[in-house]
Amino acid sequence: MEKFYITTPIYYVNDKPHIGHAYTSIIADVFARWHRLNNEKVFFLTGTDEHGGKIEKAAAEKHKTPKELVDETSQKYKDTWAKLNVSYDKFIRTTDKDHEEAVKEFIKKVFEKGDIYKGEYEGFYCLPDERYITETELVDGKCPDCGRDVQKIKEEAYFFRLRKYKNDIIKLIEGGLIIPEKNAKEMLNRLKGELKDLDITRKSVSWGIKFPFDESHSVYVWFDALLNYLSALNWPDGKEFKEFWPADVHLVGKEIVWFHSVIWPAMLLSAGLPLPKNVLAHGWWTVDGKKMSKSLGNVIDPVEIADKYSADAFRYFLLREKPTWEDGDFSESALKERINGELMANLSNLVARVLTLAEKFNGKIEGKVELDGFIDKKEIIENFDKKDVYSALNLTFESIRKINKYVNDKEPWKLEGKELSNVLYNSLEAIRIASIFLKPFMPSTAEKIEKKLGVTPQLLSDAVFKEFSTKVERGENLFNKIN
Ligand code: MSP
Repeated sequence: MEKFYITTPIYYVNDKPHIGHAYTSIIADVFARWHRLNNEKVFFLTGTDEHGGKIEKAAAEKHKTPKELVDETSQKYKDTWAKLNVSYDKFIRTTDKDHEEAVKEFIKKVFEKGDIYKGEYEGFYCLPDERYITETELVDGKCPDCGRDVQKIKEEAYFFRLRKYKNDIIKLIEGGLIIPEKNAKEMLNRLKGELKDLDITRKSVSWGIKFPFDESHSVYVWFDALLNYLSALNWPDGKEFKEFWPADVHLVGKEIVWFHSVIWPAMLLSAGLPLPKNVLAHGWWTVDGKKMSKSLGNVIDPVEIADKYSADAFRYFLLREKPTWEDGDFSESALKERINGELMANLSNLVARVLTLAEKFNGKIEGKVELDGFIDKKEIIENFDKKDVYSALNLTFESIRKINKYVNDKEPWKLEGKELSNVLYNSLEAIRIASIFLKPFMPSTAEKIEKKLGVTPQLLSDAVFKEFSTKVERGENLFNKIN
């Protein structure tokens, strides 16, 4: 049995989740569900990133202890994923004891390798991004990534010999680590410039894991956080580690590709561990044309959207509205259009029309296969292999349009007897097969279709025309028009 290990970034717990975080988790969920559908052994990891100065500051501002804040917010993440049907296998928190132990263990390994030394860091730091910035990187004195103010710091620190691994990393990226190509190019360009060793401890931050060789320092939050991908598998001795490492896909937003494709592989090389197969980068969402921010008051809560329109409609919108690696804009009006114009007009109406006729039909629904080519399975599978869930979803919906066209052309409401049976047979089987491909994207809708058709949960291997022998029930509409 093949294995598939996919991870999301672990989310900062300074604030509750918004639609950007939901997007990362939903894409990862699509992959996890797809590979389960293929009967593979899947480990889908997510969790929360709970240490560091940013969390320390957020807690102080909210008049809470860091512990209170991280407990509260990580629970909000769990609740959100439950609401959005994100089917993770493990939720890791960096304040988990065994994670902290693993981080210390890892640091000892890297230290023994001779890859950690003591020095002094002098430069800038962006607290919201938790990253070091050199003088030359500054843009108008601000963080080059997010445009916010930076802190100037000068402090004693321990460094990791990142430079030592530069050539290995370049080869790794040239070998196809990063998807898509444009992000790989960006990283290679950055690597052509000067690469400095990485400061991996902070003396002035107390909310963090104590550095094992000098407890007056805490471990830099990114060094701590990246190790979740190993500690979650109970590295070094866990059977999960033996079974699932290396990761097949680290799914990340485009702004954190550097950490995952440069720093993380260097850490693994230093510890002598196998490297991840892919780092998959997705684009960002704006809201009504603007960057989401608290000060603009346009931060969208995914739970509210799911309550209002359903989790599946929200998932569909995010996955369908833009190619995965491009940026896109979220608006409720665009979401409503997709619900009315596609989910309702196309999918929901098709299922309702066919099932109304099938429910009334007296006798066995049988026929000869006429709709065999309605879905391009091979291309959908190829797109999943290329990690292009956007195209895979488009092809799946294309197949639903084809079933609709078939029904419109055949006008089954004018037919009876054998002719009607034949059209119903083809439409019902095609809907059943399409519902299998819908599962990763819209799990509860696919399940509702299965219930209506009277079939038990199916695997990808069931996506072939068979005999139709179950009892159907039209029931409620899958989606209703939104005004
Ligand atoms: N804690 C780090 C990750 C450590 S992984 C070892 C972090 N956390 S985060 O909460 O800031 O971001 C997590 C994910 O949310 C990233 O993949 C990021 O791209 C995604 N998004 C946050 N805002 C977003 C948008 N506006 N749009 C799309 N996704 C964005 O980084």
